[in-house]
Amino acid sequence: MEPWNTFIEGDNLDVLRALEAHQERFDLVYIDPPYNTGNDFAYVDDIRGADGSRRGRHEAWVAMMRPRLEAARAVMSDRAAIYVSIDDNEAAHLRLLLDEVFGEASFLAQVVVNLNPKGRQLGPGFATSHEYLMVYARDPRRCALQASIPDLVDERDFPLTLPDGRRYRHLPLRNTNKKFNPATAPTLHFPVWGDPDSGRVGAAPFPGAVEVAPVFGDGTPAVWRWSRPLIEQRSEDLVCRLVKGVRGERVDVFQRDWLDSAGGQERRKKLRTIWLAEEVGSTDVAVAELKALVGHVFESPKPTGLLRRILATMPPEARVLDFFAGSGTTGHAVALANVADGGSRSCVSVNCAEPTRPGSNAALAGLATVADITRARLRAVAAEVGGGLDERVL
Ligand SMILES: C[S@@+](CC[C@H](N)C(=O)[O-])C[C@H]1O[C@@H](n2cnc3c(N)ncnc32)[C@H](O)[C@@H]1O
Repeated sequence: MEPWNTFIEGDNLDVLRALEAHQERFDLVYIDPPYNTGNDFAYVDDIRGADGSRRGRHEAWVAMMRPRLEAARAVMSDRAAIYVSIDDNEAAHLRLLLDEVFGEASFLAQVVVNLNPKGRQLGPGFATSHEYLMVYARDPRRCALQASIPDLVDERDFPLTLPDGRRYRHLPLRNTNKKFNPATAPTLHFPVWGDPDSGRVGAAPFPGAVEVAPVFGDGTPAVWRWSRPLIEQRSEDLVCRLVKGVRGERVDVFQRDWLDSAGGQERRKKLRTIWLAEEVGSTDVAVAELKALVGHVFESPKPTGLLRRILATMPPEARVLDFFAGSGTTGHAVALANVADGGSRSCVSVNCAEPTRPGSNAALAGLATVADITRARLRAVAAEVGGGLDERVL
């Protein structure tokens, strides 16, 4: 069986080109490149004729990223998506660069991730408490990304239970968004028939039924959310009830929205574009996770919760690539996700042999390069979580 994790030591541009030459394809790319904060960016020396201005630094950063993103695109499958972590230093430049490499139409989201809930207390100005995740498709029409996840559903939102134990809630069949009305959606404005005593609903009259037209609370005409054929087909999922509105009692029709949707499919909830630390973890949580496995050997890891949420937007057999792997969070999250849901994801992590700072915890622990840190974590993951590890050096 293929191991869940593979680590390749090398410059990611060389590795990406080698992967392409071997026709390797990935469904999900996650990267967390150097943010160009002024002290973490090794490429600043590359600027020719640089005057040291911010502009020169942005140019150098973009010049480093462009060929890597192009090479990443070349190894992405038709259904693939890419998530890129970034902060305010390069967010604007990265967005334009991604538009250039993937096309504006491939933009899916710019998510705000609240990784530092207390906010940065160092230095003047605002206490920045977030960074971004930019999300693009390789091909927006074929992308497998589902912008929803299974585990956010709160069972308490489904207060009703049928005698057979199935939990559900009532949702108005009427479209409550005023943008949809008989003028904008005329085919969805038609009467249905319902019996408020038995609850039965039909698209045609039946004994005991009264005619029900879709109306807003103030009595103005509205439209249904379902077409007439869908109402006929799924009348069992509809219920007619007497409701008290501001204008007195009226008969209305509701959808029975099941906690476990038909076919046993897992219920999913749409993902919003602000992800809170309490949902995905914080940088402090990430440091603690890494400490528990290999020690406090890396300053800015991502929490596995963030990566697990990203993984949850893609199929459970996705082939994942992280070519700025750092401490190996993505590979760790892949193993955790496979254990949790029985998935068969695999992950290729890449990091160069960037030396660790002399005197740092990592150096003192005998980890001479960042690649040594990645390897140490992924070995610990294989031992403690499972899935094995294939190690290569390019
Ligand atoms: C911000 S860190 C990634 C942290 C990671 N997401 C985590 O959770 O630990 C960026 C990493 O990219 C690596 N890196 C920078 N340039 C690289 C290159 N050209 N090839 C491979 N790795 C590179 C650095 O060594 C650093 O570990």
